[in-house]
Amino acid sequence: MGGEQLVRSAERVRDLGEVFTPAATVEAMLDLLPATMWAVHPAPTFLEPACGDGNFLVAILARKLAAVDALHASPAAAAFAGFEAVSSIYAVDISPDNIHGTPAHGPGARARLQAVFADWLAGLTPGLAPSPNALALAAWLIAHNVLVADMLDPARRDLPLHEYAWHPADRSVTVTRTTFGTVLDDADENAQRSLFDPGPEVVYNGPALGLPKALAVT
Ligand SMILES: C[S@@+](CC[C@H](N)C(=O)[O-])C[C@H]1O[C@@H](n2cnc3c(N)ncnc32)[C@H](O)[C@@H]1O
Repeated sequence: MGGEQLVRSAERVRDLGEVFTPAATVEAMLDLLPATMWAVHPAPTFLEPACGDGNFLVAILARKLAAVDALHASPAAAAFAGFEAVSSIYAVDISPDNIHGTPAHGPGARARLQAVFADWLAGLTPGLAPSPNALALAAWLIAHNVLVADMLDPARRDLPLHEYAWHPADRSVTVTRTTFGTVLDDADENAQRSLFDPGPEVVYNGPALGLPKALAVT
């Protein structure tokens, strides 16, 4: 696409291998995934280990939210499904600029995801301001799922991750805190969990919109 900036500097290409993927290529790649990847509940999870400023993340979220729209649920039920969609997208990049954004380069991955969600949420109730609590929950989920880390460093095992079980019947959520190492071991049936990994711990179980305040300091 003509207006897309895919390279920021020769130094960043050399040091970070930073070349962003054009939106049309992202869409063509996502088209290759089975339709089941866009299921609303339970929502399949994605992890992008070198996400840049989020070209894949925003496209994945947009597809997940389009799948919510296709259910024609009430605004409250749709918003709840939207939280699950946001929470199912995990990402890492080594460059804080890419996650947090910079004045020179513009918004990073977190802000871009938040903008996609906020636009979509506003569309659920045209003419009404989106709920600040809903926006705060999306921001909490994005801040805890989209992280700065070096995915080639063995210390990536200690990366804190949250897992979510969403309960549409009472619009509550169970949040479990774990580590990337534990998730890797659980995915590999031949691996034995390291003695040094603490294992999953339930840190919240309650109304979805109560999550940001309950876990404000973690
Ligand atoms: C080729 S770019 C791809 C960015 C994005 N996935 C996209 O397609 O637009 C590679 C990205 O990997 C990141 N990166 C490089 N080394 C990394 C590492 N050890 N751990 C995590 N991210 C890394 C860079 O900062 C850069 O954003």
